[in-house]
Amino acid sequence: MISITTRTKEFIQPLLYKDDDKSLDTIMYVCTTEINQGPWQNCTIISADRINGEFTKTHGHYHQENASDETYKVLQGKGVFVLQKKFISDGKWDQGRVKEVFFVEAEEGDEIIIKPHWAHSWSNVGKNPLIVLDNWKDGHTPDDYTPIIKYKGMAYYLIEDKGNITYVPNNNYKDLPQPRFISARDFAINNY
Ligand SMILES: [Fe+2]
Repeated sequence: MISITTRTKEFIQPLLYKDDDKSLDTIMYVCTTEINQGPWQNCTIISADRINGEFTKTHGHYHQENASDETYKVLQGKGVFVLQKKFISDGKWDQGRVKEVFFVEAEEGDEIIIKPHWAHSWSNVGKNPLIVLDNWKDGHTPDDYTPIIKYKGMAYYLIEDKGNITYVPNNNYKDLPQPRFISARDFAINNY
């Protein structure tokens, strides 16, 4: 059965670049699950708002290391998929660091396959709602989300500045690598 979850600004407030306690009940995105449309199981609609210049974004999460790949497809709009790779040191996951960061630029029709070592969060960098499909059926554990909450978001914040996409490091992480912008097509070709 299809279920719908709305995520308000209050939900993503702890993950924002700048706190904004106004209009906390504004809906930032809507998740529709179990849609069962071909390979697609979930549909997420992300508003085109900006919060103190920051693009509206989804919460972001990791997957368990033995998880299957997840595929996303952009149905409408223009997004940047922020990906950060788990930092493994001596066989142990250091949640306060990330190994690599990509900003994957995606438009309608683009598909992005996510391997389990990449945490991921969508930012809507367009002027219209961003609509993405994904094929994830396996649910989540709290561990998928708690590192993102603990470190107050992903490794970088995406901000609009005079119509351009800029980024600000999240200084709650240590020794951040330089992020790289990449097209969805090049991300797929390189099989990261
Ligand atoms: Fe995911």
